[in-house]
Amino acid sequence: MKKAIFPGTFDPITLGHVEIVIKGLELFDEIVIAIGVNAQKKHLFDLIQRKEWIQKVFQNYPEVSVMEYNGLTVEFCKSINARFILRGLRSGSDFEYEQPIAFANKELENDIETVFILSSPSLNNISSSIVRDVIINKGNYKKFVPKEVIVD
Ligand code: COA
Repeated sequence: MKKAIFPGTFDPITLGHVEIVIKGLELFDEIVIAIGVNAQKKHLFDLIQRKEWIQKVFQNYPEVSVMEYNGLTVEFCKSINARFILRGLRSGSDFEYEQPIAFANKELENDIETVFILSSPSLNNISSSIVRDVIINKGNYKKFVPKEVIVD
């Protein structure tokens, strides 16, 4: 039974995130979407809202669940017996950003492996901060997010 977590802030979940989870299901039996805290970021949507959207998006996927956590990602992995951390890569700059984090996580917990999946070219320009900016400026954010993400 291969269990992975897909950690992030998901503020909000985008089509890019959804793609990574769907692709990840070809590798893992179970994926826990783990809403963590990035100490450098302020969020636009509260935790309850972010979690609810993700639950709705994956309501027909029993192998996908959503949890929240505080503290280190590797500690959360251990607490739920997940051996893999799944992350999406859109570009070389994502890799530059992700590599030291993956090394730090490996240093902290040698048994936990980070696995990267490349995003499709059509989705590799989406980021949650772009979506937030479109939303704040009343633009058509629906092109970038799953249909379950609805902002009044
Ligand atoms: N498609 C679309 N967007 C993607 C994407 C993809 N395939 N892959 C990444 N992104 C975007 C996200 O939307 C997000 O965009 P934003 O910065 O514009 O909001 C960005 O890339 C990455 O952010 P996110 O996925 O939220 O992760 P993060 O880098 O902010 O990390 C935690 C969040 C919670 C995982 C991280 O802070 C963490 O691990 N915290 C716990 C402390 C810890 O263990 N630190 C590591 C040890 S050093």
